[in-house]
Amino acid sequence: MADDQHAPGAAPAAVAAAPDQRGGPVLSVRGLRTTLVLRSGPVDVVRDVSFDIQRGETLGLVGESGCGKSMTALSLLRLVPNPPGRITAGEVWLEGRNLLALPLPEMRRIRGDRISMIFQEPLTSLDPVFTIGSQLTSVIRVHRGVSAAQARELALTMLEEVGIPSPKQRFDAYPHQLSGGMRQRVMIALALALNPTLLVADEPTTALDVTVQAQILDLIKEEQRRRQMAVLLITHNLAVVAEAADRVAVMYAGEIVETAPTTQFFAAPRHPYSQGLLRALPRLDAQQEQLHVIPGQVPDPRQLPPACLFAPRCPFALDRCWQEKPYLESSDGGHHAFRCWNPQPFQ
Ligand SMILES: Nc1ncnc2c1ncn2[C@@H]1O[C@H](COP(=O)(O)OP(=O)(O)OP(=O)(O)O)[C@@H](O)[C@H]1O
Ligand code: SF4
Ligand SMILES: [Mg+2]
Repeated sequence: MADDQHAPGAAPAAVAAAPDQRGGPVLSVRGLRTTLVLRSGPVDVVRDVSFDIQRGETLGLVGESGCGKSMTALSLLRLVPNPPGRITAGEVWLEGRNLLALPLPEMRRIRGDRISMIFQEPLTSLDPVFTIGSQLTSVIRVHRGVSAAQARELALTMLEEVGIPSPKQRFDAYPHQLSGGMRQRVMIALALALNPTLLVADEPTTALDVTVQAQILDLIKEEQRRRQMAVLLITHNLAVVAEAADRVAVMYAGEIVETAPTTQFFAAPRHPYSQGLLRALPRLDAQQEQLHVIPGQVPDPRQLPPACLFAPRCPFALDRCWQEKPYLESSDGGHHAFRCWNPQPFQ
């Protein structure tokens, strides 16, 4: 993975008019665009993405495979692989600083000190040739500036905190000697050891079986409550969102098409794509019903529809939907917003 990429040329070097640093959101993303330069030409895989996350809040970012969730996460950390990727517009404000305008060394520090990321498959994130303990202690030493003995103590405490049984023995284990669930716990310990303000968890439970999945989500929630972290939880699984997120943002073909508090989203989604996703969920009270599948396919990013990207699959499309781009608009003063010219009540 590329270590970094430069901020978009347009981003101001000096940090101007930051969103409120005290009571305001921990993270504020504005107009983010990430472009991949492929052999066939440039393709925007994240388009005009804006959202906020408050202290202690979990935002669930959902959408089908390939819609741009991971690219969004990597963009926040300026870790988009380059080539082929590059952030080409937008601002990412973390605690009052625009990360896209920071010099690289400062950005590296932020990555360790303020933002932590957990990936889907911990085997690829943990180094197979070092023990769990040495990986934890070296991260803690680098970022906390403590002695080796103190780092070891802290690492053992962290392993215990994330529910690793007999941490002293596991300390000397190599990643492959642990189960998938235990490795993910180690990843969480690594991420939390740095006491981040923002935790980005990209499909943290997808590779795990359902019981372990629930345990890991509980663990993240518990740690979040304790530390008042902001969490960006990325998943393609709406059940995970219902369980763990305070708010939901739905992505489709690189854009956010709806955002709402979780309860409101599940009770009354307004965007036809969100409604389709919810209908696709198996319902306990409808054993006889066919599982609903959204007809059609996600558009090819090189041949996007001219205005609303969902128009070719939308049962409510109007002429306007093919001519004029809908913007993310709030119907209730900011909490619930959707990108649609012809929203329908959910039935
Ligand atoms: N290195 C790359 N080269 C070319 N295309 C890429 C590369 N990485 C990602 N893409 C494309 O960028 C788009 C967004 O990908 P991204 O990984 O963000 O999707 P995602 O929502 O995280 O999907 P998933 O749920 O499968 O993880 C996809 O169309 C993907 O094919
Ligand atoms: S803008 Fe039009 S095509 Fe797009 S989702 Fe809404 S109704 Fe459907
Ligand atoms: Mg992904």
